[in-house]
Amino acid sequence: MQKASDEARGNGMTLGFVPTMGSLHEGHLSLVDIANRFTDMTVVSIFVNPKQFGPGEDLKKYPKNVERDKRLLRQRGCSVVFVPDAKEMFNKNFKSEVYVRDLSRLLCGITRKTHFKGVTTVVAKLFNIVKPHISVFGQKDAQQAAIIRRMVKELNFDIKILTGPTIRERDGLAMSSRNAYLSNLERIEATVIYRSLREAEQMIRKGERRTRKILTRMKKMIQEKKKAKIDYVKAVEMKTLKPVEEVRGEVLFAVACYFGRTRLIDNTIIRVRI
Ligand code: PAJ
Repeated sequence: MQKASDEARGNGMTLGFVPTMGSLHEGHLSLVDIANRFTDMTVVSIFVNPKQFGPGEDLKKYPKNVERDKRLLRQRGCSVVFVPDAKEMFNKNFKSEVYVRDLSRLLCGITRKTHFKGVTTVVAKLFNIVKPHISVFGQKDAQQAAIIRRMVKELNFDIKILTGPTIRERDGLAMSSRNAYLSNLERIEATVIYRSLREAEQMIRKGERRTRKILTRMKKMIQEKKKAKIDYVKAVEMKTLKPVEEVRGEVLFAVACYFGRTRLIDNTIIRVRI
């Protein structure tokens, strides 16, 4: 991969990179479209990163279909797919870690304590292997995107980070490989996450600025669903991910919620002129 990248760079090409864990859907492919628009060659990595799954999480049952993924990528004009071997990426003696303090402990980091350390470690490694000029991440994982931006800035990775909007099913549910785990009832009820985010937007449009009021309304909507168990519903500042009491400037409303045993996340960014 490093050789292919050096060769492309040597020929004056610009490289785009979309890291994924495979089982691709329109959300991933939309990021490939963005990378294609800005670069000459897009590399997609498919790697189910063991380091970002906690004990008892879904590493073993995480959906895999590399042949289908490759076909979808080819149709989308992606010329290079990088599928590294788990043992080659992290051998038994692997000692290095990349960790963005504070941001990795908030929101999803409260229940998934080692998750973002696993993400930043693998993404740093992938950046050094793929050597892209730009890399594209989904806004669906807003905390991940904020952490990667911080890592790139502070560790001087010479890579421009772009984010693509969240791609949704027709009924609003954010696309995710994990949606496949949902039962029929859970799948129907899960759309409440999207509706709670729209409700927040509407309350703000009507003039509400107190996040406490908005979050209470959102939680109530979600709690009415039989299969829902809220992890968090929060309003935070975009860059620091710290809670805010008043909607001013850019605010991220983020939800994490279990439907049965499946944990789903979603968010919306609200911009209010100060
Ligand atoms: P994965 O969950 O496969 O997601 C890969 C990329 O697709 C991420 O940037 C994610 O935010 C984006 N994505 C997922 N669903 C999306 C949707 N509905 N709309 C838009 N973008 C979406 O995120 C990871 O993998 C891993 O943590 C990774 C960065 C690859 C590191 O292992």
